[in-house]
Amino acid sequence: MAQYARGSAVAVIRLRNPPVNALSRAVLQALEDGLKKADADPSVKAVMICGENGKFSAGADIRGFSAPKRLGGALGPIVSLIESSEKPVVAAIEGVALGGGLEVALGCHYRVAHVKARMGLPEVTLGLLPGAEGTQRLPRLIGVPAALDMITTGKHIPATEALKLGLVDEIVEENTIEAAIRLANKVIGQPLGPRRLSLKPVPKVPNMEAFLDEALAKVKRQARGCLAPELCFQAVRAATRSPFAEGVRRERELFQVLLSSGQAQALQYAFFAERAVRRWATPGGASWSSAAPQPVRRAAVIGLGTMGRGIVTSLVKANIPLVALEQDLENLNKGRKAVMLLLEREAMKMEGGAQVLDFHNPARLQFTVDFDLLRDVDLVIEAVFENMALKKEIFHKLSKICKPGALLCTNTSALNIDEIASATNRPQQVIGTHFFSPAHVMRLLEIIYGRHTSPTAIATAMQLATALKKVGVVVGNCFGFVGNRMMFPYVQQAVFLLEEGSRPDAVDQVLEDFGFKIGPFRMSDLAGLDVGWRSRKDQGLTGPSLPAGTPARQRHGQRYSPLPDLLCERGRFGQKTGKGWYLYEKAGGRTATPDPWLLNFLSQYRDTHGIRTRFIDQEEILERCLFSLINEGFAILAEGIASGPEHLDVIYINGYGWPKHRGGPMFYASTVGLPRVLAKLQKYSEAHPDVPGLQPSAFLKKLAAVGNPPLKEWMSYLSQQSSKL
Ligand code: CAA
Ligand code: NAI
Repeated sequence: MAQYARGSAVAVIRLRNPPVNALSRAVLQALEDGLKKADADPSVKAVMICGENGKFSAGADIRGFSAPKRLGGALGPIVSLIESSEKPVVAAIEGVALGGGLEVALGCHYRVAHVKARMGLPEVTLGLLPGAEGTQRLPRLIGVPAALDMITTGKHIPATEALKLGLVDEIVEENTIEAAIRLANKVIGQPLGPRRLSLKPVPKVPNMEAFLDEALAKVKRQARGCLAPELCFQAVRAATRSPFAEGVRRERELFQVLLSSGQAQALQYAFFAERAVRRWATPGGASWSSAAPQPVRRAAVIGLGTMGRGIVTSLVKANIPLVALEQDLENLNKGRKAVMLLLEREAMKMEGGAQVLDFHNPARLQFTVDFDLLRDVDLVIEAVFENMALKKEIFHKLSKICKPGALLCTNTSALNIDEIASATNRPQQVIGTHFFSPAHVMRLLEIIYGRHTSPTAIATAMQLATALKKVGVVVGNCFGFVGNRMMFPYVQQAVFLLEEGSRPDAVDQVLEDFGFKIGPFRMSDLAGLDVGWRSRKDQGLTGPSLPAGTPARQRHGQRYSPLPDLLCERGRFGQKTGKGWYLYEKAGGRTATPDPWLLNFLSQYRDTHGIRTRFIDQEEILERCLFSLINEGFAILAEGIASGPEHLDVIYINGYGWPKHRGGPMFYASTVGLPRVLAKLQKYSEAHPDVPGLQPSAFLKKLAAVGNPPLKEWMSYLSQQSSKL
């Protein structure tokens, strides 16, 4: 609600809807009532709008967009009402003014912000555009280039930047409300015409059309199939071409297009999913509501390779003092150099730079080869080679050296957490923290609890994720956990498609057109084919430990493709060797071109194995790759490895480049319709009976049989199913 108060000549309207003063229908109604009351009261000479609890407003109530009587359209007229007031209206911006919240402030005649406040129009990130006339007012206030940047990216800007742009009139370090009331008193009686943004012309840019063409090309390039940025652009462009009222009409039309697009639903689902996964629970009954984290005052990272370097950088950025340990001086020096380079780069991006990060101070970042220095740390993150024997040796050592309460984390990609924990005297304090490469950039942290992991350990790892500004997702222990386990059948299908007649660039193109940042073959070249090769050798699937006489294309009675192994045997490890699934300009090169050698090799391979080459269309490529991944997701849910489909989706969006505007794999399955996913899997599975990944999971079958319930009900069918067992 909004609270109206009048103590002096300035009436105060306070937006009140905890926790973020979202503009629900009730808040809007109260705001409108407050404005009318102030207008009708002759003793009121000015109005000040602020938010309760140090936050102006985070905008429209996102839950309201899917309500039967939607909010869209209700706010615009209220913003106009504010602007047309005959009494000056001042916004006092504390905390955040986002989306509709900022649009309310744009309707005000003056804006005062606290120095720590943030402002933005993040609607684009929810698949929408600022639909309360924001696309028309903002360019009039701060000019087209800055408005386009804010509206098409959705970024939040700090008050200091807002002041430079002219978005706010004043910033204050102390009491924003008092400053706004002071300003309101000062401007009583001054003409309001020049303060009404709808009456202002859009500032000219030299060569506006050329500027807009270039901006559009950039927006399209970055959108990768997401509609909202381009429609945001169109709405701003309308401001440059039409009078205010016509621009508003165009904004409304475009808003309606987006509102009814599946993409807006997917992005809003993703917003809430990211918040839902914070409320973790395990099948054993541990949960976020009862578990308390323990403080991490000092940490350690073991292994300064690809992952360790990024993890150290993340910890330093989070202001956590740490010790970084390597196996010998040579690797330590290599690792230290790489870490320092990363930190220098990060510091350059930050206000205050190296001084803020303070990474040259050994009390905050210490490099060593001496395990003894790990005695007093609260948490260790191990990131050595993916080798069980080595990890166990390290954990055994840690459990002897580290203080009793220290949490021991392993950054493994797939290995068994319980087996690693068995090497210690404190399995309850062992947990998987699976970072994604580059670890200081990627937002995902998969947190894997083992059989004995304590709720405190899970809560501490989740708290660490928050401190590192990452999204922590708690999952159970199985080979590959959630993310990599779902990735295996996807990559497997991509390789099978090559065997049957497709090409790496054709498969990649289909998945990149779907919205993935990078297709599976380009990804494999980037990560290095040798990584998987080593793991397959360890599993006895290839290499010297493969029993003699094993058929080339079969393992344990299932279809297997030796293609990646054959490439590795020829030294084709991907970008690092200049050759992999593609050809690169040099070793370490990044420009992939299709390699005639590979196409010839594929053709000979098919001849050798008697495979008839066939044309494979885009639909089959997409369905076999995505539906096998989704199918594994259903198996994961049924096994209780993750507590809901949102977890899988958050993992895929934040760790695997899944296009956010498609909501994640499980949300995507719900939009395709589970009966259709099932039918397609059945069809492909009949054609390829030796591929278990294509055989529909029992849980998927069950959900299709009970009538394709909405995603949020899926897990209730699982408990019904298991309670019958
Ligand atoms: N509507 C409904 N609920 C919202 C909300 C909104 N606009 N913004 C936040 N919330 C909820 C969150 O879901 C969360 O709820 P739970 O505690 O139940 O999970 C709670 O408020 C707190 O949010 P966060 O956990 O995200 O808190 P934070 O401190 O980390 O971040 C924030 C605060 C920066 C405001 C962040 O919540 C945010 O970015 N919110 C979305 C802002 C936004 O996109 N606004 C535009 C809305 S669309 C619009 O306004 C359209 C229009 O013009 C017509
Ligand atoms: P890497 O090979 O780049 O680095 C491993 C580092 O560990 C090396 O610097 C090595 O000197 C050091 N090391 C080995 N034995 C040690 C010991 N006894 N004491 C101290 N340091 C020791 O490996 P990378 O890629 O960083 O992987 C590390 C772990 O992270 C692996 O378990 C891997 O599966 C996992 N992982 C890797 C990802 C990737 O994209 N590279 C992604 C996610 C997880």
